[in-house]
Amino acid sequence: MPSVSTSCNLPRIERSEYAQRRKQFRSHLGSAAALFRSAPLLVRSNDAEYRYRQDSDFYYLTGFVEPDAVCLLLPEKYVLFVRPRNKERELWEGSRCGPEAAKELFGADEAYSIDEIDELLPMYLEHVDLLYYSLGRDEEFDRRVFRWLRHFRTVRQRSGRGPYGVLDPSEVLHEMRLYKSSEEVKLIRQAAKISAAAHLEAMAACRPGMYEFEIEAILEHRFRREGANAPAYTPIVGSGPNATILHYTANRRRMMDGDLLLVDAGAEYEYYCADITRTYPVNSRFTQPQRELYELVLRAQKAAIETVRPGVRFDEVHKCAVQVLLEGLLSLGFVKADLEAALENGLYRRYYMHRTSHWLGIDVHDVGKYMLDGVSRTLEPGMVLTVEPGLYIPNEEDVPERYRGLGIRIEDDVLVTSAGREVLTEGLPKEIEELEAMVGRYETLSIV
Ligand code: GLY
Ligand code: MN
Ligand code: MN
Repeated sequence: MPSVSTSCNLPRIERSEYAQRRKQFRSHLGSAAALFRSAPLLVRSNDAEYRYRQDSDFYYLTGFVEPDAVCLLLPEKYVLFVRPRNKERELWEGSRCGPEAAKELFGADEAYSIDEIDELLPMYLEHVDLLYYSLGRDEEFDRRVFRWLRHFRTVRQRSGRGPYGVLDPSEVLHEMRLYKSSEEVKLIRQAAKISAAAHLEAMAACRPGMYEFEIEAILEHRFRREGANAPAYTPIVGSGPNATILHYTANRRRMMDGDLLLVDAGAEYEYYCADITRTYPVNSRFTQPQRELYELVLRAQKAAIETVRPGVRFDEVHKCAVQVLLEGLLSLGFVKADLEAALENGLYRRYYMHRTSHWLGIDVHDVGKYMLDGVSRTLEPGMVLTVEPGLYIPNEEDVPERYRGLGIRIEDDVLVTSAGREVLTEGLPKEIEELEAMVGRYETLSIV
């Protein structure tokens, strides 16, 4: 039992895994130091703030979720600066961990009040030549880092000691974050499971006459009820013409009989995200044109998922989706050219203008490079990516009339495994018959 009295929020992943991450990161540091800053508190309006969410890199290395904290990694030491305990402030804002518990519960070798950082940090930095710090993310803190560096410009002249260069830690850290450990995969799997359950409930509740925000409310209610912290991003609930707006988040329209509804929503569970899209008819019956386009997107999505396995290049997944979509667009009369020329000239882009995949993890659009030395990188076990082709048909005169204004996307989350892949969002229906059976069938359903 800890000897200090505190109600610190402890991360779900074991403390030893964070220590392992810091060790791995440090092995790239040489004799440099690395400095990480917690996310700033963000004002929503006047004196009302958004709910706090820790910076992803900071969280990955520390598991510490309070604001106003700094992590300093030295070749031999892990130092945390945190908010000091304060009875009065804790009464208003909730409990603080404090330096003592930061050592005891988060494994810091040394921990101090953040109020002491100006005095203590130069003392630590004196012994290193280079500082890893991610400039440009927090201007206020950047200014403090510049002040410390300015100080060392003078010091170095006299003693030859102190940092003279700043390097970006993302280069190393974001590559580490790309490969998920089994503990991380468990959390993503849980986020996926919660998200799938919420989508299923939204489908079952959906009927003409409801507003898009009612679907959003069902999703968010289920996320929270299942223990998710929040949506991983603002849910997109786009019905009818709104389904063709890629980043539609107003979610204000009344859904009409005959509309398709595109729902893109994922939960964040213990700092790990899911990202799922399903598209279905509000009245539970696909019209013929809706069915034709849906079948095409589904075919593209399944084929793209099938390509995911170790050794395949990241952009092969996209190429596969594009190939299937384009063949369909040709046969449905959208594109009038031969396949080769249409591919070369990107004629599909009018209807499919985004990429098929992105990494998924602590951030919904997670970190990690897509290209190495200008070449698409190969997939490896432990990487998690989305597969999310779509078609967005503009309401314009020169496109086949029966498809005008339709928007469809199907998105699943896929883990690369040594055997191939695991679709983490597998349980959620996407076949036409399954969707038709589920939409509007309200009851409290659970696929958990
Ligand atoms: N929900 C954002 C995306 O699908 O990338
Ligand atoms: Mn996505
Ligand atoms: Mn999405």
